[in-house]
Parts: sequence; C-alpha cells; structure tokens
Amino acid sequence: MQKLIIDGGHHLNGEVKISGAKNAVLPVMAASLLVDGTVKIKQVPDLRDTRTMAELMEVIGAKILFANNEMIVDSGFVKNPIAPYDLVNKMRASFYVLGPLVARFGKAVVSLPGGCAWGPRPVDYHLNGLKKLGAKIELEGGDIIAKAKKLIGNKVRFDFPSVGATGNIVMAAVTAKGETLVENAAKEPEIVQLCEFLVSMGAKIDGIGTTEITVEGVDNLHPVDITIIPDRIEAGTFLIAGAALGKITLTNTIPEHLGTVIEKLTEVGCDINIDDSKISVKQAKKLDAIDVTTAVYPGFPTDLQAQWIALMTKSRGSSIITDTIYNDRFSHVPELNRLGANITVEGNSAIVRGVGNLIGAPVRSTDIRASASLILAGLMAKGTTEVSHIHHIDRGYEKIEEKFVQLGAKIKRVETDE
Ligand code: EPU
Repeated sequence: MQKLIIDGGHHLNGEVKISGAKNAVLPVMAASLLVDGTVKIKQVPDLRDTRTMAELMEVIGAKILFANNEMIVDSGFVKNPIAPYDLVNKMRASFYVLGPLVARFGKAVVSLPGGCAWGPRPVDYHLNGLKKLGAKIELEGGDIIAKAKKLIGNKVRFDFPSVGATGNIVMAAVTAKGETLVENAAKEPEIVQLCEFLVSMGAKIDGIGTTEITVEGVDNLHPVDITIIPDRIEAGTFLIAGAALGKITLTNTIPEHLGTVIEKLTEVGCDINIDDSKISVKQAKKLDAIDVTTAVYPGFPTDLQAQWIALMTKSRGSSIITDTIYNDRFSHVPELNRLGANITVEGNSAIVRGVGNLIGAPVRSTDIRASASLILAGLMAKGTTEVSHIHHIDRGYEKIEEKFVQLGAKIKRVETDE
C-alpha cells in the first residue's frame, strides 16, 4: 500500500496540463467492442480504471496495446462475452460492456456491481432499457445474463438522466433493428463524445447533447481513431486548488465544459482568465462562502462536490453544499473534520462553517473524489497530512502528486504496510 505525505500551506504557482477524461475513455473503450477491427484511442489517461477496463476487455478477448497515453484496441478476436465479478467489483463502469456485448454477440454475462462507498448505486435503468430493446435478462449467481438474438429499437425513458444507462442503451441500440428513442437522456460531454465516436464509426444518432437521443440501427460499424476530451473533473480540481492556494494555469481544457464551476469560482472572489484551451485562476483575496447544489450537466458536477467542500473550509462564513445526484456522498466529511474543518451533514447537504486554517493529520481516502478533496485540504492545512488508501486517487487522477509538485506543492508518495 502507499500513502501521500503532504507538507501543507505552500503557495502554488505554474502551469499544469490536464489529462484525457476518465469518464469519456471508459465508455469509448467499451464501444470499441462493437466493431470487428482496430480502434486507436489517443489522450488516454494512464489510470487504474483505464487499466482495469483494458484487463476486462482482454478477458473478453480483445487485444490491447497501451503505451504513452495511446491505446490500440483490436476487437476482432472477441469471443468471450463474460465480465467477471473480480473486475466489475473493482470498477462499476465495467458495466458499460453489457450493451456492446449483447449487441454484438446476442448474449452477455456481466456480474452485477455491488454497492459502493456512498450507497447502493443501482443498475435498474440499464437493465430495463435493455429489456425494452427485447433482451431477456436473468440474474444467476450474482451475474446478469442478457440474451437477445437481435435487439429491436424501442422507446426507452429514464426516470433520471443517468450517464451510464444512456451510454449503455445507445451502444446497444446502434446496431439494433429499427429506431430507438432515448428520453430523459444524459447530455454530459462524456456521453456526447461517446455518441460522436459511434457516429464516426457509422452509427446514425440524432439529438446528441440533448435529452432526447434517436438512434437508427445500422448493420455494421467500421473502426476509427479518436482523441479523448480533456477531463473536466481533473480541471475543476486544479481550478479549486488555485482558488485556495495561488495562481495556476491549466492547459488542454475545454472551458465550455466548466461553465458552472468557473461561475462559482468567480463568485467566491477568484480571477479567472480564459484563453482558448487555457484557463488561469488566481486565488481569491477574501474567499467568500458560496452555496453549491450539484446537478446534471451543465450544472455543478457531483464529482467536484467533495473538492468544493474542502475549499469552503477556508472561506469566511457558512455555505451549504447539496448533492442532488447522490444522497449520501459525504464520506470525506469526517476526514475533513479530522483536519479541523467544521462540517455537519444533514440529509443530502453538508453545512460548512469556514475555519480559515486547517491543521494537518492522518486521513483516509474512501473514493476517487473524496481523496482529491483530502489532498486539497492537506495542501491547504498547516503541518503534515498523511493521506492513506490512495489506490482510490490512482483510479481517477493521472500523476496527481507529480502535477502538484510541479506547481510548488510539497507532496510525496511513500510505501506503507497498512
Ligand atoms: N441510477 C439509478 N439506476 C440506474 C442508474 C443510475 O437509480 O440504473 C441513479 C444513481 O444511483 C444516481 C443517479 O441515477 O443517483 C445518477 O447516476 P448515473 O447513472 O448518472 O451515474 P454513473 O453513470 O454510474 C457516472 C460517472 C460518475 C458520476 C456520475 C454522475 C462514469 C464512469 N462515472 O456514473 O463518476 O458521479 O456519472 O455524474 O462516468 C467519478 O468519476 O468519480 C464518478 C463517480
């Protein structure tokens, strides 16, 4: 096991390059299973999650080469449409292989993901959507067995615009017979990229980036190359770091993807400058306490809720951070309180009373974004913070400590026997 040791309180200054988006590359990798041929994916972040997805796709039979942030996926040999528990359990996004595998093989066995650090996170929309397309779904020994000789287009409506279910159903529908209408679809940039990737392979999809997506089934897809969009959550994390600690310029971003985050950072008192794909942030002189409510895109992302709470611990005043996507995503709160924060949770809201300075302590990360908030808090705190269980951060942030060190942070990774 490893942990991060952070000597906090240092000013950050400099430039950081944002990596490709985890939540865009995972469905794109899964979509590569739809095509009998070789897809080249560029700007792939080297993360535990991209490696887990690659491992899963190799079990399924794909041949994968991954080096220097480029991945070549050859799905010509895919023959084993089975996603086992040990891999699905490591990463829920493994469930993305379900739609493509049923579409291509008429059958898939994908282990049912369990709960996660912040609640049950069901997959009912994915399964009901596939049933609407004619798949027969059974649960056997903890595995979902989905079968359909040929999927048939239909209307699929989600109660909530789920990112994963939208991706899965669109991937299942691209080679189905006839038309599929997805209502209340997700319009996150990662889903837009997935749809555009499918279109470049020959799929017929309308309404991309809206809540109504229409897919007209085609017989065949052809392989193409794709460059993954920059990670808006990694970018948001570094913007929040700049807001708390200095002057940072992010390169390789798509500023439109960060509209609400930039708005909120301006409200707290930061100077933000946008120049094409660069965003610069300058620490607020007096950090105001600003409430945030997470929402689906283009709202404030739930994946930056924990980092925002960390920022607000430094503000003057009280703020309420409400998560409308997940009811119980607050495992970082008790850890932040160990650093001297004053945060209470009521229902799906965290009430943060700004304390000015945090004080270093040992803390434990519980999920990807919770770990990011602990790193930010450790960088802000006086003294030494030790963040343990950092395998979580490695799932979603590429070279995080190297990037922070480059900005002047004092942070190092050490081996432990915890
Ligand atoms: N939901 C259901 N049933 C379903 C699917 C979702 O009730 O079948 C609920 C969820 O429980 C949740 C809401 O719908 O309350 C939204 O979940 P969604 O399906 O949109 O989330 P996801 O696709 O599982 C992706 C990201 C998450 C991110 C959410 C929300 C990937 C791989 N993961 O998850 O990212 O929080 O969308 O934006 O894209 C992360 O990167 O740290 C992360 C957790």
